[in-house]
Amino acid sequence: MSKDTLTITDNRTGKTYEVPIQNGTIRAMDLRQIKVNPDDFGLMSYDPAYKNTASCTSRITFIDGEKGILRYRGYPIEQLAEKSTYLEVAYLLIHGELPTKEQLEYWTNRIMRHTYIHENLAELMKAFRYDAHPMGMLISSVAAMSTFHPEARNIDDEAVRQKQIWRILGKLPTIAAFAYRIRIGRPFNYPDATRGYTGNFLYMLDYMNERDYEVHPTLARALDVLFILHADHEQNCSTSTMRAVGSSRVDPYSALAAAAAALYGPLHGGANEAVLRMLTDIGHVKNIPAYIERVKKGELRLMGFGHRVYKNYDPRARIIKKIAHEVFEVTGTSPLLDIALELERIALEDDYFISRKLYPNVDFYSGIIYRAMRFPVDMFPVLFAIPRASGWLAQWVEMVQDPEQKIARPRQVYLGPEQRDYVPLDQR
Ligand code: CMC
Repeated sequence: MSKDTLTITDNRTGKTYEVPIQNGTIRAMDLRQIKVNPDDFGLMSYDPAYKNTASCTSRITFIDGEKGILRYRGYPIEQLAEKSTYLEVAYLLIHGELPTKEQLEYWTNRIMRHTYIHENLAELMKAFRYDAHPMGMLISSVAAMSTFHPEARNIDDEAVRQKQIWRILGKLPTIAAFAYRIRIGRPFNYPDATRGYTGNFLYMLDYMNERDYEVHPTLARALDVLFILHADHEQNCSTSTMRAVGSSRVDPYSALAAAAAALYGPLHGGANEAVLRMLTDIGHVKNIPAYIERVKKGELRLMGFGHRVYKNYDPRARIIKKIAHEVFEVTGTSPLLDIALELERIALEDDYFISRKLYPNVDFYSGIIYRAMRFPVDMFPVLFAIPRASGWLAQWVEMVQDPEQKIARPRQVYLGPEQRDYVPLDQR
């Protein structure tokens, strides 16, 4: 009869151990009993970059990378992208269920009421140099927010947690828009709650002194869908950072600033910026074969391709490709799109990419859309951070309430020198 256990034989000692299997995992701590002698520390698992280690249980986001499936709280991403809105999805991620009409109205009102930032924070932002990267400004400004809302450190108080969530979701677009306005040397536009979440964001970025200024509804909706697609992606680098830093019981602003810093890297949220730079470097469809050859020789990576989890077409990339065409109907097409489409076509037929299961990921097309909407390239990671904040916060709330979680503290395998005596400077 089958049993949900794993039998391990330690060939060093000949001893046999039986450890339980639960949810397709064994507990790493169950390995600790495996010792060669009583003084032995016990067996550990070694897993650089956590390629096969589950650090938590979660009920938020489901991904099947082989089949290309992504669901938030059980709802397929395709249905949410078609029928929902970003703020509704943020509620779903954080609260676990879709809101009723009243709940959604209250949630939206609370978030939109928190779109203003403290004037001193706005002043602080003005102190950045004219060419400061907006992601650097966002990370620092979010960290600074903890000083404006010191009660946020009471993370065990549910009402306090809730308030910081409204504040973060409300204020992030404002900080992002202010960072952008500083970059282009224009005065701030203060939030207009009546324009909706993405409508207000585009308004804060764009508005000068036009009469009857309106945000184009197709662009506001396209951005809203992009926000839905970027809202959560289970235990990626930045989300794991949010959980790890949050596990020290620090306030959510400090943890979220750390998560945003993780997102800034070119292998994570910085990838869409890298995609655009790559497409610009390629310059013309005729240069693609030579570029692919360099990638295959290992000189370059094809940015926007490949994923730790998806070994199939990223379901978000499919939806984004469709939005790209809707946006181009408003903004006009871009030669970079032709390069991207051809690059994708060639790569998907090439054995190098097929054998390694390298498919376009979410960042492959998002950068082209953002560029068409006239966002400067360095705003791209910021456009990832704004919606991902809802995922970070959902995961943070889950972590804070999980009785199994403790401060994150991995082990190491020490391979350095044995003990040795200090050598004075004049004898070295
Ligand atoms: N271009 C060319 N070769 C690649 C690429 C790529 N983009 N990605 C992976 N490979 C190759 C890699 O060289 C290796 O080949 P080999 O077995 O011959 O050594 C093989 O595929 C496996 O790669 P890996 O580095 O072990 O894969 P990983 O799971 O550690 O990396 C990744 C995942 C996303 C960091 C990587 O695919 C990559 O660098 N992609 C480009 C950056 C990018 O688009 N990042 C955005 C990810 S999606 C947004 C997000 O979630 O942040």
